[in-house]
This record gives sequence, C-alpha cells and structure tokens, in this order.
Amino acid sequence: MAHIDEILQTLGDSDWQDGQPGALTHAVESSLETGHVLVLPQLRFVLRTAEQRFLDPRYADPATKNISLRGEAALMRGAVGNAQDLGELRAMLIRFRDQATALAQRLFPHYDGHLKVANTSFRPIAVEGRATSWRKDDTRLHVDAFPSNPTQGARLLRIFTNVHPGQQPRVWRVGEDFQDFARQFLPRIPRPLPGAGWLLEALHITKQRRTEFDHLMLGLHDGAKADLAWQRSCPQREVAFAPGTTWVVFSDQVLHAVMSGQFMMEQTFWLDPADQQQPEAAPLRVLEQMTGRRLGMM
Ligand code: SIN
Ligand code: FE
Repeated sequence: MAHIDEILQTLGDSDWQDGQPGALTHAVESSLETGHVLVLPQLRFVLRTAEQRFLDPRYADPATKNISLRGEAALMRGAVGNAQDLGELRAMLIRFRDQATALAQRLFPHYDGHLKVANTSFRPIAVEGRATSWRKDDTRLHVDAFPSNPTQGARLLRIFTNVHPGQQPRVWRVGEDFQDFARQFLPRIPRPLPGAGWLLEALHITKQRRTEFDHLMLGLHDGAKADLAWQRSCPQREVAFAPGTTWVVFSDQVLHAVMSGQFMMEQTFWLDPADQQQPEAAPLRVLEQMTGRRLGMM
C-alpha cells in the first residue's frame, strides 16, 4: 500500500484524449488501487473565453456551494443565472465530464465498460470560511461516505482539476493508509440498529439501501472528523495542487482534507470492487477482512 512519503505519483500528461501527443500514461490501475494520488501537473482544463466569467462565486447557489450535474440526463443543480448563463455553464460541465471520462478510459483500461459516470461538479466558492457543521467540514481529514448516497461497496473514483485563473493552489492534506486508519476507528463504531437500512430507504432518506458497509464507512468518516486530537497528530502531509493541475484518487480509500483554494472541477465515477485489478484492496474487502463477516444488507 502507498506509504505517505510516496503517496503522490506524478504523470507528465498534457492532453486528456488518447491518441494526442500529450496523452502519455496508460494502465495505472494498480497505483490508484494501492492508495496513490495520481497528479498530472500539466493537464489543464481550458475554459473558453466566454466561460471565464463563471470564475465567480455568484453563479453558485449559496445554499449548496457546488454546481453539479446529476445522472445520465445531466440535470444541473446549484447554479444561479439567466437562461444563457445556465446553458453555457451546463455545456462547460458536460465538456469537463467528457474529458474526464476520456482520461479515465486511457489511464484505466482494465475498468473499460465498468466505470459508472456519476456526478460532475464545479466549486466556485472559496474553501476558507465555508461555514458548515463538523460533519460537512471537509477541512478535517476523512474518507468520502455520504449519508443519503450509499454505495453498497462501490468505489468512488474522482478526477479533480484546479481551474483558478491566477496562482492560487488547492491545498489538501492527505493521510495514512486506509487499513491503518480503519484499525483505529472501527472498534468505536456502534452496531447499526436492526432495520435501519430498510427504514432509511423506505423514508427516501437514502437513494438506495444503506448496507452494513455504508454504515461502517459513515462511522469512519464521522469518527475521523469528530476526533480533533487525531486530526492534529495522525500521520499526514500537505499537498498543493497548482492551477492547471489535475489529480485522480479513490476518495473512499485515501484520507483527505481541503484546506484552501477556489475554483475546481470534479468528476466522480463508481466502480464495483469486483472489477478492480486487486479487489482485495477495496474498502469493502478490507473491512470484511477486518470484521470477519460479509457487509451486506443490515
Ligand atoms: C472533499 O472531497 O473532501 C473536498 C475536496 C475539495 O473540495 O477539494
Ligand atoms: Fe472528501
């Protein structure tokens, strides 16, 4: 597994699309699966001249902080503007989604036909001073797990790119290996209440059934964010992603926190652990190994 000192793997690519001269890297699945962050410092998402006006927090609904595309139909949420603004914003997000998808196909040929395109987001609001509850505070180290959106074990593969027009990096912290992290927090997670998964789904609180895996991932997410002493003292390092940099990570596996920055685009894909090159590295398999049981319906 990736040691924190060598968690970054830097790639020289300068094009998204396979077949182009700057499309250099292929087949780095195992690197991603062992918890590395793939960093492409020369892979810039280029905004069109007319799109540069969107580098302004006023296009984001203050209540949501992200502008996002959902599902196959690419419905846009969280944006404010007139009809022309909204149309052009949506086109920009769709272009990013298409480029990110082309990149994923090239970097991860083993996942071909298995990656499920999930949300696309544009984050025009500065990280600093983004008021939230402790549970939503992404300046605290965490692995991604979302209360309303259980994955039932599917992986969260995310491609990020810093589109800041000036010099401002997006500054993250990254933490220790998933298994070392889980070993500390797993024993503190209470067992789920019987029927909880069914009830949350019946009440439409969750989009699909929350399994015992999802319960444990939320427990790890919350446990990490709630423990301020651990936040300060755990093994970690700061990483600054300059404007024009793209990076790729399994965010359900790699401990991460965002400390500062503004203007980022992000594409999420879901992947069944069975379609990994090394399924045993998936959080589902790691947690099943540690608990000694199948982490399905609860
Ligand atoms: C996160 O996934 O925790 C936030 C990443 C970011 O906004 O840079
Ligand atoms: Fe996160």
